[in-house]
Amino acid sequence: MRTLIKGGTVVTATEKMRADVLIEGEKVVAIYDPGGQGWEKTLTEAVVGVLADKVIDATGKLVMPGGIDPHTHMELPFGGTFAADTFETGTRAAAWGGTTTIIDFAVQTKGQGLLEGLEAWMDKADGKCAIDYGFHLIVGDVNDQSLKEMDIAVGEGVTSFKMFMAYPGVFYSTDGEILRAMQKALENGSTIMMHAENGIAIDVLVQQALERGETDPIYHGLTRPPALEGEATHRAIVLADVAGGTPLYIVHLSAAEALEEVTIARDEGKNVFAETCPQYLFCDLDDLGNGFEGAKFVCSPPMRDRAEHHQEALWRGLATNDLQAVSTDHCPFCMGDHPVFGTQKQLGQGDFSKIPNGMPGVEYRMELIYHGGVNAGRIGLNRFVEITSTTAAKMFGLYPQKGTIAIGSDADIVVFDPDATHTISAKTHHMWVDYSPYEGMEITGKVETVLSRGKTIIENGEYLGEPGDGRYLRRASNQYLI
Ligand code: URP
Ligand code: ZN
Ligand code: ZN
Repeated sequence: MRTLIKGGTVVTATEKMRADVLIEGEKVVAIYDPGGQGWEKTLTEAVVGVLADKVIDATGKLVMPGGIDPHTHMELPFGGTFAADTFETGTRAAAWGGTTTIIDFAVQTKGQGLLEGLEAWMDKADGKCAIDYGFHLIVGDVNDQSLKEMDIAVGEGVTSFKMFMAYPGVFYSTDGEILRAMQKALENGSTIMMHAENGIAIDVLVQQALERGETDPIYHGLTRPPALEGEATHRAIVLADVAGGTPLYIVHLSAAEALEEVTIARDEGKNVFAETCPQYLFCDLDDLGNGFEGAKFVCSPPMRDRAEHHQEALWRGLATNDLQAVSTDHCPFCMGDHPVFGTQKQLGQGDFSKIPNGMPGVEYRMELIYHGGVNAGRIGLNRFVEITSTTAAKMFGLYPQKGTIAIGSDADIVVFDPDATHTISAKTHHMWVDYSPYEGMEITGKVETVLSRGKTIIENGEYLGEPGDGRYLRRASNQYLI
């Protein structure tokens, strides 16, 4: 099967040019630039036309690498329930939004082997995914055995491990445990991903708030101050240093104080990186108000106070590469009862600390960042591709198979209409969750056609793929190191 994407403007992290893209099977095999201004001019236009079985007219459209979301939680067990999207529903929604690769988090729980956790998540995803997927591993129990198993996981293509300075009694690790895992990661060439919030101090604030009868979702935000994200980020950077310079990637960074720590470390030449998420760029502390409606926005770290200018700092960080990527931390929980998993956000009625932490987003990321970033003049097109696709591919060992449009790369491609406007609504989205944090928001720029390894999976408003189209990705080590 040969597909020609014709007449569009091809955008990668480094190029923007009028070009046609020829795909054979799963790969890009030719890029024809009618202007002849660069890239590989491998075929004449006439030959390309004859070769194609299917032609996609991309006139007036952008042709970009499929998005890579390096932080999702399909079916994550949390707070007595499970994240509402399964690997089947969540990856299909991702495809609708122009994301063609996710890296999800397999979980090792206390008392369980690390590889047991990986196996369990492999089973959940196997044969279900609409798009390609890889795994990071959450290290929930640091001991001699799990440290040894980190080496084996790296051999299986899991080259990044998430640890938590938050959630004592659940995923939390002590500084000593974190240091041991960082030493091991440095040895085996993996990257430590950190949920950087001081969970011990936060738990004190949460307890005190509840004792005062402060039970609404707004107190979720007020008991997790930005200073405790900044402090934990600083501590994680120091621990990575003490471990000998372990690559450290701060996940879901939300606060200017944390960004400041990352910026200083990067200016000092350290292998310290960070992502942020759309919710921190578009939502704020006020969204946690409005009674229990605020539960829709409960995730950790929390939404920040708009008056403190965190959003401006995050957008600036994305523009200046103090932040390297945008993920979603997609971890949806329904406001009502989930058809399979039952009661979700309602678990926290009368006690905000029992609201399952997480928000939906995997379907919106590309369009939201295009709208708020490119349309608003905060970032250019090449930078858009870099932060939504290319850097994640490099950071997590998938480049150049993923994250670009080049001869030999997987034909994961989005045809994007920069002028189409639409309104976000839970009524029309494809994520398996009964609300949208962005309900009613008007967006300019829309994913039109999506190819995953050469197969057209979204076209003319229809999903054309099937569960199991997506393959497990064995990843190499971090390709983004200084
Ligand atoms: O609130 C969040 N972020 N839920 C998902 C788990 C995590 O900490 O990433
Ligand atoms: Zn986290
Ligand atoms: Zn997460």
